[in-house]
Amino acid sequence: MNPARETDMRTQYLGLELDNPVVASASPLTGSADTLAQLEEAGVAAVVLPSLFEEQIEHEAMAIHQGLEFGAEITSEVFGGFFPELDSYNTGPDHYLDNLRRARTELSVPVIASLNGTSVGGWTHFAKVLENEGADALELNVYLVAADVAVSGAEVEDRYLQLVSSVREAVDIPLAVKVGPYFSSPGHMARRLADAGADGLVLFNRFYQPDLDLASLTTTPNLVLSIPTEMRLVLRWMAILHGRVDASLAATTGVHDAEAVVKLMLAGADVAMMTSALLNLGPGHVATVLDGVQRWFSDREYVSIDQARGSLSQLSSPDPSAFERANYMHALVSYST
Ligand SMILES: Cc1cc2nc3c(=O)[nH]c(=O)nc-3n(C[C@H](O)[C@H](O)[C@H](O)COP(=O)(O)O)c2cc1C
Repeated sequence: MNPARETDMRTQYLGLELDNPVVASASPLTGSADTLAQLEEAGVAAVVLPSLFEEQIEHEAMAIHQGLEFGAEITSEVFGGFFPELDSYNTGPDHYLDNLRRARTELSVPVIASLNGTSVGGWTHFAKVLENEGADALELNVYLVAADVAVSGAEVEDRYLQLVSSVREAVDIPLAVKVGPYFSSPGHMARRLADAGADGLVLFNRFYQPDLDLASLTTTPNLVLSIPTEMRLVLRWMAILHGRVDASLAATTGVHDAEAVVKLMLAGADVAMMTSALLNLGPGHVATVLDGVQRWFSDREYVSIDQARGSLSQLSSPDPSAFERANYMHALVSYST
């Protein structure tokens, strides 16, 4: 029997031509030259550098222990063997620019820089600096926990849009916006973000959840890695948004293996991003995932992933109601212990 013909895995994301749809999302693995090289060697199509935070731009020398969402409690003890040796994580603009320059020089895959913030202000102009240093694209992570009970959903949404517009005005490179799922109408918000200038949407931000320590009666910052079932939320919204929003779609959260990548492509994602699985299994896991994705598509004689993309999205699915309320009762009834 002839071996199956290889499927063309090339993918467009933010107007960038990628060799395949697997991207390393922002994490300590993309903050170290060694692990960046390992990711590239394993076949990753692009990398997103760790975020530079609004607070760091505004207060340049902010120390790492002063309470960033990511960084304070991340150590190899927590994350096992594949956590790279880092003297620092998210330590400031100068260090960030060094990393960006080095990544641009040493890697041949596209390098996406990342800014993380919540308020409209002077810091967003730093986007231009990242563009000038050669970032192929920019990811804006709006990590906003709407904790002020006096602020309405409409006001929160306006803040997102102002932020996106101000970064959009600052740069010419493609702009992706990474947001959480907590909008009353995520699909409508996705459209508004695209209208405000986002070339791509990264769905979804995984908000870090503090815990309570019952011994000391304090809150404990405690970052846990994702598990594969968390991908379902992303899968639903990829399926709903495919073909309905004028922006590239990147999936993040819960992408751990080849099956997850295949499902997301069928739902309509342009790329699938990975962090937790790579922290667990190492950068080399990208090669295993790519192998599995290639095998799945070529065994079914797809010429390209583009040919399959979105074939199970809500617009194309034989069962569009599966993504909505209609299937809820069916799911409840089918539950068995
Ligand atoms: C240790 C760690 C550091 C992270 N740092 C960043 C960051 O700097 N900027 C960002 O946008 N996301 C950051 N993330 C979030 C990841 O990029 C990713 O969106 C999230 O972990 C969900 O994907 P996963 O399920 O593949 O882990 C970080 C995640 C982890 C676990």
